[in-house]
Amino acid sequence: MRLANKTALITGGTSGIGLATARLFVAEGARVAVTGRNESTFAAVQTDLGEKALVLKGDVRSMDDMRAVATQIQESFGGLDVVFANAGHAFPSPIDKVNNDLYNEIMDINVKGTVVTLQAVLPQLREGASFIMNTSFTAQTGKHGISLTAAAKAALRSLARSWSFEFLGRKIRFNAIAPGAIDTPLVSKWGISDEEVHQLKSELAEFIPLGHLGRAKDIAFAALYLASDESSYVVGTELVVDGGASQL
Ligand SMILES: NC(=O)c1ccc[n+]([C@@H]2O[C@H](COP(=O)([O-])OP(=O)(O)OC[C@H]3O[C@@H](n4cnc5c(N)ncnc54)[C@H](OP(=O)(O)O)[C@@H]3O)[C@@H](O)[C@H]2O)c1
Repeated sequence: MRLANKTALITGGTSGIGLATARLFVAEGARVAVTGRNESTFAAVQTDLGEKALVLKGDVRSMDDMRAVATQIQESFGGLDVVFANAGHAFPSPIDKVNNDLYNEIMDINVKGTVVTLQAVLPQLREGASFIMNTSFTAQTGKHGISLTAAAKAALRSLARSWSFEFLGRKIRFNAIAPGAIDTPLVSKWGISDEEVHQLKSELAEFIPLGHLGRAKDIAFAALYLASDESSYVVGTELVVDGGASQL
């Protein structure tokens, strides 16, 4: 029960890494709110996480949505000890395909969404809260065809440092997790066939020193550490969980 008596918000908590983290946080005693946009997933997520979890609709790019999320959290939980700003997406962006819409989509979901999340929940954040951002190993290594997503994640890593200074007075800790290639539904949302998804994952695995993609719960365990009091002396850092992809 490493999160007993704590409350947590996980944006993008209805799938993949966010959902795995929500399951672990609930199992460790936290009261958890998760957000997503696609309401067709909500009933299954509610059943998965149990009746005590809050499953809330909210697009992280919308201040109105996120203020409504913050209000519901205030009413149900009274405040927040942990935020996992996890909602995001990786889009292929070879430079000849980049246009205004694609640029805005990538930057808005990943960067603006995290800024909006922080602004919306600031009144709820308790002294000593932990705010965790989800970056990517690609921000460190670079990656062919995915440059804008890698750059957006690098911006988040920078924000983790600056916000750490900005909120020292409130004792709010900002840290990031940099996942490697993790086996989640993310790439199946690119509109490619199941066979292409399988092929892509096999190709990715070839470049990972440990030889396989990570599991969503590998990131959840890192989030649990950064959320818990065990990491109370850890601030402004990025915890890399990538099977060695950026390190070896
Ligand atoms: N999988 C990887 O290999 C990998 C590697 C590095 C970093 N990451 C990062 O990990 C995070 C989670 O990715 P995942 O692999 O778990 O993907 P996923 O399974 O596709 O889950 C993404 C989650 O984010 C939500 N979401 C997306 N856009 C949103 C928005 N604008 N507002 C609110 N919620 C939104 C989705 O719900 P709705 O669709 O209902 O909105 C879903 O719950 C992302 O930030 C991703 O960039 C993933």
